[in-house]
Amino acid sequence: MRKIIIAIDGYSSTGKSTIAKRLASKLGYLYVDTGAMYRAVTLFALRNGFIGTEHENFGALIKLLPKIKLEFVLNTKTGHSDMWLNGENVEQEIRSMQVSTYVSQVSTVEQVRHMLVALQKRMGKTKGLVMDGRDIGTVVFPEAELKIFMSASPETRAHRRYKELLDRGMNVSFDAVLENVQKRDEIDSTRELSPLKKAEDAIPFDNSDMGLDEQFERIYNYALRIIEGKK
Ligand code: DC
Repeated sequence: MRKIIIAIDGYSSTGKSTIAKRLASKLGYLYVDTGAMYRAVTLFALRNGFIGTEHENFGALIKLLPKIKLEFVLNTKTGHSDMWLNGENVEQEIRSMQVSTYVSQVSTVEQVRHMLVALQKRMGKTKGLVMDGRDIGTVVFPEAELKIFMSASPETRAHRRYKELLDRGMNVSFDAVLENVQKRDEIDSTRELSPLKKAEDAIPFDNSDMGLDEQFERIYNYALRIIEGKK
């Protein structure tokens, strides 16, 4: 069977990863959450004091980039891959509000993008991949056979993220989550380097009023048509 690359881009908390994971497991493909990679680098920067409320020292971060080892390691309990940073499972910590607050700034650093995009391209060498992020269809895999661009209203997205954080036992306010979602949208779509934007050949997908099953069925059918050579 023909193997393809599926690129799912879009605004934060649009449910990209939920759909991408489901697609990958149904198709027997590898799933790669590129946001987790930017989050892990941000956690590294926070732990080393390179970024904080009143300072940022990206020069020091850039110098230490070669010391950052990122791996996706299968978690046999969940059946999904966890993000590991230098030999430590950081899957929970990278989802914290502290990391969410700084990740968009760290994602503007050219050398960080350069390193992560190179790693991501390598993962697609043998195809059979579902990758989600912000620049997958535009920069990482402009040749991807299927590109989806997800959006939903900021309030819908903040509600989803808020619920997710509460379910993880984190103590946050809805207003703080909404503010973070809106701020990241702005930084992600206005940054100079590979900003979040729909690739010309991506399918626009607003899921504000769509349940998960419907989203999955629609996107799975797009993929099948391509895999079976009907498009
Ligand atoms: O998908 P996410 O919300 O976990 O991503 C976290 C941040 O990482 C997002 O606000 C912007 C950045 N990011 C990026 O710049 N490029 C990607 N391909 C993925 C994420």
